[in-house]
Amino acid sequence: DNQLSYFRDVRIGVIGGTGLYSLDGLQVVETMAVDTPWGQPSGPITIAKTEQDHLIAFLARHGPEHSVLPSEVNYRANIAALKALGVQVILAFSAVGSLREEIHPGDFVLIDQIIDRTKGVRGDSFFTGTGVTAHATFGEPVSAKLRALVSRHAGAVPAISVHPNGTAVCMEGPAFSTRAESNLYRSWGANVINMTCIPEAKLAREAEITYALVCMATDYDAWRESEEAVTVAEVMKTMKVNAVNAKTLLLALLPELESAAYKDSAQQLISSEVGSMQYAFQ
Ligand code: ADE
Repeated sequence: DNQLSYFRDVRIGVIGGTGLYSLDGLQVVETMAVDTPWGQPSGPITIAKTEQDHLIAFLARHGPEHSVLPSEVNYRANIAALKALGVQVILAFSAVGSLREEIHPGDFVLIDQIIDRTKGVRGDSFFTGTGVTAHATFGEPVSAKLRALVSRHAGAVPAISVHPNGTAVCMEGPAFSTRAESNLYRSWGANVINMTCIPEAKLAREAEITYALVCMATDYDAWRESEEAVTVAEVMKTMKVNAVNAKTLLLALLPELESAAYKDSAQQLISSEVGSMQYAFQ
């Protein structure tokens, strides 16, 4: 309890995906285990101090040792733990497969839409079992303002393209897609594919946390005839470069994100965008 109130002003959360397990360049203040009513998050939360003296919370989605599978991540505990620290804005990172020729491995995509192809096995609502009937608005699953903020700093990573929008398919995994599935998703207009943005984005919305996802392409998935279908080795190799670019981008955008999160007028801009929860009491 004391710990939680001590860190109450940690308004910015960062969730790292495959290949992004720590935040270099920021001063670590504390690494803390946080328990929630939904259990334990994927790992300890690192609290770091920025150059402007603000606190940010970092959580590795798959744990510090990458030991938690996408289907086994306790998404509710991850989001609830960040919420308990006071987090109002989450910038998340995720490795994705590219479903488009022009999204090269190494490129980043600031997705604005999601198609859910998970199989209903993930705890995906804070309201399950509570007796409260609530429906979050999810037509725009990602904050347009936070996406735009990230976009403005694309110049920090000039070697790659940062695509300003796109649709992600979230699949169950852990096996990658078949070629037929990969082509099906292309026919739906999807641009990238991953295994984690649902329910993460949904829970962030239920928790009324502003959320955006930086998708980092690691491979061309399975659709591309001229290419071998995606392998873990390929994903990991590209991910090493992606992690360096992710940290560079994050450090570049952090001052503006801090202004948005900590200055009252700007803060309103961010939070007013999150559709407030609509409760239907019976
Ligand atoms: N994460 C990285 N590459 C992926 C792919 N091709 N499919 C699903 N998730 C991924």
